[in-house]
Amino acid sequence: METDQRTPFVPDGFVPPAGLATAGFVLEPLGPQHNDSDYDAWTSSMEHIRATPGYPDGSWPHPMTLEQNRGDLERHQRDFEQRKGFTYTVLDPGSRSVIGCVYIYPCKRPLHDAEVLLWVRATHAQLDRELWRAVWEWLDRDWPFRSVSAPGRLEVVATTARCRLELLRRQDAEPLQRLYGDPEAMRFIGADGSVRTPEQTAAGVGRLIDHQQAHGFSLWAVADRNGGEVIGVAGLVLVELIGPDVEVVYELVRDAWGRGIATEVGRACLDVAFGPLGLGRVVALSYPENAASVRVMQKIGMRDDGEFEAYGRRMVRYVAEPG
Ligand SMILES: CC(C)(COP(=O)(O)OP(=O)(O)OC[C@H]1O[C@@H](n2cnc3c(N)ncnc32)[C@H](O)[C@@H]1OP(=O)(O)O)[C@@H](O)C(=O)NCCC(=O)NCCS
Repeated sequence: METDQRTPFVPDGFVPPAGLATAGFVLEPLGPQHNDSDYDAWTSSMEHIRATPGYPDGSWPHPMTLEQNRGDLERHQRDFEQRKGFTYTVLDPGSRSVIGCVYIYPCKRPLHDAEVLLWVRATHAQLDRELWRAVWEWLDRDWPFRSVSAPGRLEVVATTARCRLELLRRQDAEPLQRLYGDPEAMRFIGADGSVRTPEQTAAGVGRLIDHQQAHGFSLWAVADRNGGEVIGVAGLVLVELIGPDVEVVYELVRDAWGRGIATEVGRACLDVAFGPLGLGRVVALSYPENAASVRVMQKIGMRDDGEFEAYGRRMVRYVAEPG
């Protein structure tokens, strides 16, 4: 991970945490004083780390000498001091030996302001889940980031009062079948408002994942912040998947309706569109009779732009621009 010189990674007044301690591990800033133990931890765990979420790209670990490792640790220590990135060693609470590492650095992709990677020693493989959960909660609670990417684990595009917008994963098709298989929810979706089979939902999720890869935005999973359950999708897609207009979309399972959630996540999508993505205009399209959807467009500050032909039918169109 590289550092970005242009914008500060964390706000000026922010004091990076000195660490984090649980019954299972202790985090403290990584430095050359950890060299022997850190080197032993990762050189004995190379296959395990290569199979850890976020690492299969193969760029690390690769063979290095103990002295080269010291150079790396000095670099991480310097980055920490200069607030360019924050690396914590993971220590066993009893022996104080190194059992893993957590890296928090700027994310190169525009949707996220931070990226977190972590690994544990092969001998402590079962600790990965506990460490990841604790680090994730810690980032949400004690750090100033708007949207954190954890490659291979969880990639959060935006956080609202009650929800997280997360990059879609193939396994999200299963909870989303509650939406796409529900005739009441589907009445005003697509060209004809028909329900989808689980296979069609899985294929649709696949197309949305491809859209994210190709364009850097797509529909995202709407996850309940308490518990993480996926309750719908919201995000930005090219109209009819070809554009050039970008459309904001929100689709929720029925038991989430009527609580202002579409308004909350719809606003967050526009913030992402006009903030990190730098789009110049976003539209919203709806069947004219979908009064709840049109009301959401109004509540998120979009303006009526008349009727428009899309998806093979007449739609009402609303539009929003930055500012
Ligand atoms: C449309 C949808 C996203 C709304 O989600 P939601 O979380 O219930 O929306 P919110 O609570 O933020 O706001 C809904 C607004 O519409 C209003 N509303 C709801 N049903 C309505 C109706 N039948 N007629 C008029 N207004 C209605 C609500 O009162 C609320 O407005 P208010 O805050 O001024 O009272 C949700 O019903 C849904 O997912 N439907 C299925 C998928 C869909 O149609 N998506 C839109 C595709 S364009």
